Amino acid sequence: MSFLNQPRENFGSKLGFILAAAGSAVGLGNIWAFPYIVGSNGGAAFIVIYLLCVAIIGLPVLLAEILLGRTTQKNPVGTFQALSNSKFWHSVGAMGVLAGFIILSFYAVVAGWSFGYIFEAIRGSFFNFENAQSAIDHFNSLTHSPIWIVGMLALFMILTMSIVAFGIKQGIEKSSKVMMPLLFILLIGVMLRGLTLDGSSIGLKFLFNPDWSVISGNTIIIALGQAFFTLSLGMGAMMTYGSYMSKKDNAVTASVQIVILDTSIALIAGVAIFTAVFALGLDPAEGVGLIFHTLPIVFSKMTGGYFVSIIFFILLFIAALTSAISLLEVVTSYFVDEKKWNRKKAVFVLGGIAFILGIPSALSFNVLADVKFFGMNIFDLVFYLTFNIMLPLGGLLMAIFVAWIWGFDKALPELKKGAEQLFEKAGWQIYLWKIFLKYFAPVLIFIVLLNSLDLLDFITNLFE
Ligand code: TRP
Repeated sequence: MSFLNQPRENFGSKLGFILAAAGSAVGLGNIWAFPYIVGSNGGAAFIVIYLLCVAIIGLPVLLAEILLGRTTQKNPVGTFQALSNSKFWHSVGAMGVLAGFIILSFYAVVAGWSFGYIFEAIRGSFFNFENAQSAIDHFNSLTHSPIWIVGMLALFMILTMSIVAFGIKQGIEKSSKVMMPLLFILLIGVMLRGLTLDGSSIGLKFLFNPDWSVISGNTIIIALGQAFFTLSLGMGAMMTYGSYMSKKDNAVTASVQIVILDTSIALIAGVAIFTAVFALGLDPAEGVGLIFHTLPIVFSKMTGGYFVSIIFFILLFIAALTSAISLLEVVTSYFVDEKKWNRKKAVFVLGGIAFILGIPSALSFNVLADVKFFGMNIFDLVFYLTFNIMLPLGGLLMAIFVAWIWGFDKALPELKKGAEQLFEKAGWQIYLWKIFLKYFAPVLIFIVLLNSLDLLDFITNLFE
């Protein structure tokens, strides 16, 4: 039998699906972005709004995206082709595959830093720092080296490709079942170290005592964007994983569990980082540099910091790896399903192209630093284009598609598969899902999108 006749693979169990999907969701967004965004947006009050956005927008869209994939058991392009005749909707799937490709190319650059920082931690580099500036200088000396940055990108990409090449059960599911529990345990360890530092309570207050005066319209937009990004929504990653989910498994409880895992890991990362940052008297609002500039100093000053720093960068690397494999899987599934490529060929060709596409992003920290478009270097540009525009646009269109085009008449019977018992009891929950997906999600995501396109200020000015 040729491989073409083999049935499409499925996850072996519901737990396997949940851990893989949580692996996609939990990434640099939770451990790198969430803490610095919280730090720069005032702490606890931001977290409350963020949690609301996760519940009102994140969960309903996640469920819709998983459901689309599980219904058709196809990649994002195949999914829209199966459910609609319109070229417009097919192109939404294609935009997702393209976004996956682009995101992978620069996500792997930052993931490569976290990989490289494991070795920096092992070498004890952080203990030579005299002041905050020396941590920044060290970071710059690494990222200014094209060889280091492209080398780490290449190594990271090779690891990602090796997992995806083994397929869903043997590659993605098996590795997630090892990496996700490990990530959780390591993170708990770092959090406990943070909590046992003198002065850790100042960090807890910052995280859990809301100061509402710092909240503005912009905070809500940032919270919504982060909720969306952290759940890997809007480009078909969850759709692709959903397509490998059995219709016997309950998609509703799976979505809730993924959201709970993702949110708790972000919060635990917040506690781990802010207890330490405050206990050592450093600045929580460092921004993007929080992880690579501030934390190494924190580690160098804390008792046991040598081991904590190694553990921390290993867990950051694991989080990035399980997200990167889901990005590569989106593109791979498209070429395997639609173009009938063999999986190994697809993985190595596409991973190779993503690596080449990643090189300009990597070099924008050194030799290409002066190449700017719209005032942004190449890395910032592709980041902005995907996270601020393609992902919200994709998520907006998916919500509209399920609620208004495919329609709840068809979606609800699909959703019920594997969730029969839940459906008997859960009248109002289903009702809420419909309302949120039909009205709240499109309107709120649209506002985020307008903001990203810099149109929001323009429009509000019209009314002033
Ligand atoms: N959720 C990932 C994180 O928190 C980032 C991400 C966004 C992503 N969209 C994605 C990952 C799609 C995989 C697929 O880091």
